[in-house]
Amino acid sequence: MHEIIRELERRRAAAQLGGGEKRIDAQHARGKLTARERLEILLDEGSFEEFDTFVEHRSTDFGMEANRIPGDGVVTGWGTINGRLVYLFVKDFTVFGGSLSAAHAQKIVKIQQMALRNGAPVIGVFDAGGARIQEGVDALAGYGEVFANNVLSSGVIPQISIIMGPCAGGDVYSPAMTDFIFMVRDTSYMFVTGPDVVKTVTNEVVSAEELGGAKIHTTKSSIADGAYDNDIECLLQMRRLIDYLPTSNREQPPSWPSFQDVDKDDVSLDTLIPSNPNKPYDMKELILKVADEGDFFEIQESFAKNIITGFGRIEGSTVGFVANQPMVLAGVLDSDASRKAARFVRFCDCFNIPLVTFVDVPGFLPGTAQEYGGLIKHGAKLLFAFTEATVPKITCITRKAFGGAYDVMASKHMRADINYAWPTAQIAVMGAKGAVEIIFRADINDPAKIAERTREYEERFLNPFVAAQRGYLDEVIMPHSTRRRIARGLRSLRNKRVEMPWKKHDNIPL
Ligand code: HXC
Repeated sequence: MHEIIRELERRRAAAQLGGGEKRIDAQHARGKLTARERLEILLDEGSFEEFDTFVEHRSTDFGMEANRIPGDGVVTGWGTINGRLVYLFVKDFTVFGGSLSAAHAQKIVKIQQMALRNGAPVIGVFDAGGARIQEGVDALAGYGEVFANNVLSSGVIPQISIIMGPCAGGDVYSPAMTDFIFMVRDTSYMFVTGPDVVKTVTNEVVSAEELGGAKIHTTKSSIADGAYDNDIECLLQMRRLIDYLPTSNREQPPSWPSFQDVDKDDVSLDTLIPSNPNKPYDMKELILKVADEGDFFEIQESFAKNIITGFGRIEGSTVGFVANQPMVLAGVLDSDASRKAARFVRFCDCFNIPLVTFVDVPGFLPGTAQEYGGLIKHGAKLLFAFTEATVPKITCITRKAFGGAYDVMASKHMRADINYAWPTAQIAVMGAKGAVEIIFRADINDPAKIAERTREYEERFLNPFVAAQRGYLDEVIMPHSTRRRIARGLRSLRNKRVEMPWKKHDNIPL
C-alpha cells in the first residue's frame, strides 16, 4: 500500500513541476508567475480541486511519443473566490509553451461543460503559443470545440479571460467570445498573426507590444476591458470582479454587507453642476457618491472615455452604471462610446444586474469620420441594448439630454422604469445656439434679435419641466437625494417581470 501511495505522490509531484525547474525559472525571469502560483492567488486558500492532473497528449508525430508531460500544458479544476464557486483553466507556458493539443482541449471543454451544468463562472488564464504545431488538425478540432462551448455558455454563465503572456493564433478567439478580457502590461500580448507573419504579408515592421500589447487593446482596439501592472494585481482585481457577478443567469447578483446609509443626503452633489452649462464636471464623482462606499469597478476605463461603464453596489447589491462623461468630448456619443456601452448593458441584462444611467449628453458626434465609420449602426446598438434590457432600469438626467441621444440614454421611451432629472437638466432637440440659427435663420444678421430668441429658447426648453409635464420624467429630484431615490427605486423594482414577444433571438445591428 505504501508503494502505491508513493507512486501517486511521485506522479503528482511530476505533474506539479510542469515543464521543470529551468522553464519555471525562465517564466519568473520574464516577470510572470507559473500556472499554479496564479491559481493560488486567484482562489481562496486551499480551495483548488484539480481535474485531469495526469492527462497526456496522444500524439506520436515528430517524436512526441517520447515527450509527454502530465497535465499537457493546462491546469484545470474548480475552487472558490470569497466562498463562491468558479471553474478554471490556466495555461502552463512551461509545458510545450502552453500550446493546445487535442487532450489539452478536452480538459478545457470538460471544465466548460461542468461550469455550464452547475451554473458557475469560467475563468481562463492564457499564456500560450497557440495550436500545438505537432498535432495538426487535431489541435484545430480541439479549438473548435472550445469555441463552441464558449458560444453555448454565453449569457448563461460569466466567462472571463485573463491574458498573462502570449495569446496568439487559435488562442485569441476563445477570449474574444467571453464576457471580459483583462491583460497584464508589458508581459502579455494578443494577436491573430504575429509580427513575423505581418512582415511577410504586408511588409509592415511592428513589435509584439505595438501589435497587440495591453496598451493597444485597452485604448485602441477595445479588445481588452482592463490592464494591470503585474500578475498579482491582475489576479486580485479578478477576485474583486467576481464578487460583483452572479454565478449564472439563473441567479441574482450576490449581496454583500453595506456600511453606508442610503438615507443620508449628500449636499455636495447640489453644487456638482457648474453654473456655466459649457463647463465640464467629473461624472465619476456622482457615481462614486451613489455607489456603496464609493467602490466602483470600471470596465474599459481607457477606451471611449466619453462614456463610463462599470459595476458598483447599492445597498449591497450589484448595479451596472452607464454614464456620459462631460470631461471628455463634452460627453458626446460616438461610435466607440455607443459600442462600449451597448456591450456592457447587454452583459448586465444577461446576468440580472440592474442598470443605473446618468445622462449629460450633447448629442451624437457629427462628421465624416463618424458617419463613414458606421455611427448610425453603432449608435443603434446602444439604443437596441437599452431597449431590449428587461432588468430594472433607473435613469437620471443631470444636465444635457439633447436630440437622439436623449432617447438612446435609457429614456422612458426605451422602457426605463424610473426616470429622474435634476433641476439643472436641459432636455431638447438641440442646444440653444444651433436651434436658434436654424429656426430663426432670417434673423441671423441681427445679434440683438438672435440673443432674444436664444433666451426665449433657453427659457422654454432648457429645463426638465416640459418633459416632466408630459410624464417622460417621473420626478425632478434634488441632487443631494440621488442615492436615496435610486436605492428606493431599485428596492421597488426587485420583482420586475417583463414578457418579451416570442423570437428565436433578436437581430441587434452588429
Ligand atoms: C508546440 C510550442 C508552440 C506551439 C511554443 N512552443 N509554441 N510547441 N506548439 N505552438 C514551445 C517551444 O517549442 C518551446 O519549447 C516552448 O514552447 C517555449 O517557446 P519559446 O519559443 O522558447 O518561447 P518564447 O521565445 O517566449 O516565444 C513564445 C512564442 C513562440 C512567441 C509563443 O514560441 C511562438 O511563436 N510559438 C509559435 C506560435 C504559433 O505560430 N502558433 C501556432 C499559431 S496557429 P521548449 O521545449 O524549447 O521549451 C494557430 C491556428 C489555430 O494557433 C487556429 C484555430 C482557429
